[in-house]
Amino acid sequence: MRGPLCRVMPMRAQRVVLRVASQREVAAVARMQADAALTEHRLIPDIASHRHDIPNGRRYWRRALRGSRQRLFIAVRGSEVVGAIGVDLIVARHRMAPVRRRIYLHSLYVVPHARRFRLAQGLTRLALDWGRGRGATQARLEMAAPNRSARALYESLGFRAREMMFARPL
Ligand SMILES: CC(C)(COP(=O)(O)OP(=O)(O)OC[C@H]1O[C@@H](n2cnc3c(N)ncnc32)[C@H](O)[C@@H]1OP(=O)(O)O)[C@@H](O)C(=O)NCCC(=O)NCCS
Repeated sequence: MRGPLCRVMPMRAQRVVLRVASQREVAAVARMQADAALTEHRLIPDIASHRHDIPNGRRYWRRALRGSRQRLFIAVRGSEVVGAIGVDLIVARHRMAPVRRRIYLHSLYVVPHARRFRLAQGLTRLALDWGRGRGATQARLEMAAPNRSARALYESLGFRAREMMFARPL
């Protein structure tokens, strides 16, 4: 199975399918996002909360999946969702905006036992392909500054740091 928005990748002796998520997978993704929130909290505790509202996460993704400007891609091994990435299409209202259509990547997470099999790379590439197919000419994302694995991943895909957000307690 291989198409513009679907890929199969090897993981040990098994196959992992990367594809668009359906409503059926929303609950699993919302649970994974709780782990993602905890990871981010450990990296930047003063910015990111350790708590994640799972029911609210489910509602968010259910709504997002119905729209045409958001997609959720997942990596599935057997019946287990082992990774996910969300992507939003942002269309500038201002006609003179330097970039009229861009995508915003978010919610990338791969479960610990499925890491270093290039699943995050594959998921991110699918999200980029989806954006290109919708006329986007730029991709953006935000990440916690100390997250070295995420930084290495994004740089391996051609992303470069363009802005910085500074913070301090008051
Ligand atoms: C960051 C994360 C998504 C990477 O997922 P992954 O599937 O293991 O990443 P991949 O296997 O696709 O890695 C691709 C490349 O990214 C880099 N990379 C990924 N994890 C790395 C790590 N722990 N240390 C160093 N480089 C790493 C490497 O360059 C790697 O290529 P290589 O295997 O040829 O060296 C995963 O560790 C994760 O879910 N972390 C917690 C959540 C998170 O940080 N999300 C990102 C929020 S911005």
